[in-house]
Formats: sequence, C-alpha cells, structure tokens
Amino acid sequence: MEVKHFLQFKDLSRKELDYIFDRARWIKAKFKDYQQYWPLSDRTLVMIFEKASTRTRLSFEAGIQQLGGSAIYLNTQDSQLGRGEPVEDAAQVISRMSDLVMIRTFEQDIIERFAAHSRVPVINGLTNEYHPCQILADILTFIEHKGPIQGKTVAWIGDSNNVCNTWLQAAEVLDFNVHVSTPPGYEVEVERAGLYGHAHFEEFADPMQAAKGADLVTTDVWTSMGFEAENEVRLRDFADWQVDAEMMQIADKKALFMHCLPAHRGEEVAADVIDGPHSVVWDEAENRLHVQKALMEYLLLGKVTQ
Ligand code: CP
Ligand code: NVA
Repeated sequence: MEVKHFLQFKDLSRKELDYIFDRARWIKAKFKDYQQYWPLSDRTLVMIFEKASTRTRLSFEAGIQQLGGSAIYLNTQDSQLGRGEPVEDAAQVISRMSDLVMIRTFEQDIIERFAAHSRVPVINGLTNEYHPCQILADILTFIEHKGPIQGKTVAWIGDSNNVCNTWLQAAEVLDFNVHVSTPPGYEVEVERAGLYGHAHFEEFADPMQAAKGADLVTTDVWTSMGFEAENEVRLRDFADWQVDAEMMQIADKKALFMHCLPAHRGEEVAADVIDGPHSVVWDEAENRLHVQKALMEYLLLGKVTQ
C-alpha cells in the first residue's frame, strides 16, 4: 500500500482537508471536555529537528500523547544525522522503528528524500520552502472565527518565505485569494512555491494596497531560520513592511490578524496589532495541537467515522 505523506500543503486534496478541519474541531471539542480519546495507542511518532522550535515540538509531542501514543525527539546535534549519515539510511532505520515521522529541516529536498525511503508517513514540520502544518492551523482558526475561507482574501505582508509559499498553495487547493506585498527583490518565486500559476494571488508594491479590504492580514519574521546572515540587510529592506494599526484600519472592519510566531514586535508587526482586538494569534498557536492530531489520525487510520 502506498504511504501517504504530508510534505507540502497540496499533498492533501480539498476533500481531505475539509475532512481534517471537521475532524480537528471534533477532536478539539472532545479534548476540551476532558474526554479520553486514544485511537493511536501504542503508536510512536519520531520528531526530527534540525532547527529550533517551541510550538511544533510541543504540539506534536503533546498531540500524540493525547491520542494515546508516544513521541521520541531527535535533533541534529545529538544523533548521527549531524555526523553525515545519509538521509536515505536514516529514513530506512527510523521508519522501521516507528509509525510516523515529523521532520523540521532546511531544504525541501531533504524531507522528500527521507520520505522516498520511509515505510511510514512523513510530516513536514517546516522546511526552507514550506510550513504546511502552520497553514492547517491558520485555516482552522479562520474557519472558527469567520466561516469558510473560499472566496475570501488573505493579505500577506513581508517576506515571501516558507509560510507565504504555503498560503499560496493553500489558496490554489481551497480556492481563495492572497494579496502579497514584499519589498523589491523578495518577490514570490512561483516554481519554488510549488504553484500552478498566478490565478490565486496578486502582488502589490504597496503593502497598504495589499491589505485593503482583506479578511485576514498576516505576516512573519523578516529573517527566517537559516537566513540569519542576511539579518542586517533585511532589517533595512523590510522597514516599510510592518503590519501596524493604520494597515489594519484599511483591511475589512472585521479582519483577523495572524502570525505563526515567534514574533518581533516593532519589526514585522506593531505591538498594538499583535496584542490588539483583531489578533487571533493565541487561538492560532493552540490550533496547531488540534489540527495536527486530526492530521496524524488521518495519515495513520484514514477517515474515522466515530
Ligand atoms: N510557528 C512555529 O512553527 O513555531 P515554532 O518555531 O516554535 O515551532
Ligand atoms: N518563517 C519562519 C517561521 C518560523 C516558525 C522561519 O522559517 O524561521
């Protein structure tokens, strides 16, 4: 039987995503009601981190435990991965001892190679190119606050990074629009983002124009992990791409503000926005837990009816 991986957002169809969002809400309600639900008892998740994390580690580790399974944490420094063991060999070994693998790493190619040699499902916990679990959580949060995302407009302000690329893929799969504004030189690369074309996004030189009328305004750090050497240049290049109160004013009156976190107040977002009335960042962070529980259940058990 073919193993199902979640390496980029478009690995799941609209139908599968609709199921996962519904399932996440069901799992969340059960959890909030303190009802035990252990469909993954005796299952082991291996989590491999080649970059730092708070939310991703916490949500996957807590999530698998709450579903009755257990997690093993590996990082580059403490394992043979950091000493040059081929990723293909690591995949063979790790996937013979576990039921599910989550990886946070650098190039997408690394996780693709791992998955090609894995006997068990592999989940992308962030690469330089994509962060699909984040956008699952973001869209679940959008649905909870505003209903279906189809036909809605998301404004992305700042770097065309892994989170931006994933929003753009999600727009193609789920049929909504993204207005992107990046500084010159940091524009979206259609091929790197894994897009079919330009049908679901529009680029704006002026971030205020991108935000105009948007149902959701979202951003991320100006310097992603792995790009630290560019930090000083980026601080200058991105100075006019801060989401501030004036920008939220031009968005839809009931617009949401999201940020995958960690955030830098005073850089990509003003404190009065992230801590203000439009912001749903804490719901967004919490939803990583619930939606990834639904994802893990789906990858291991398929559609569950109870
Ligand atoms: N948003 C997110 O992935 O956070 P961490 O880097 O803390 O995992
Ligand atoms: N774009 C950021 C997201 C962190 C969760 C990074 O890759 O560092």
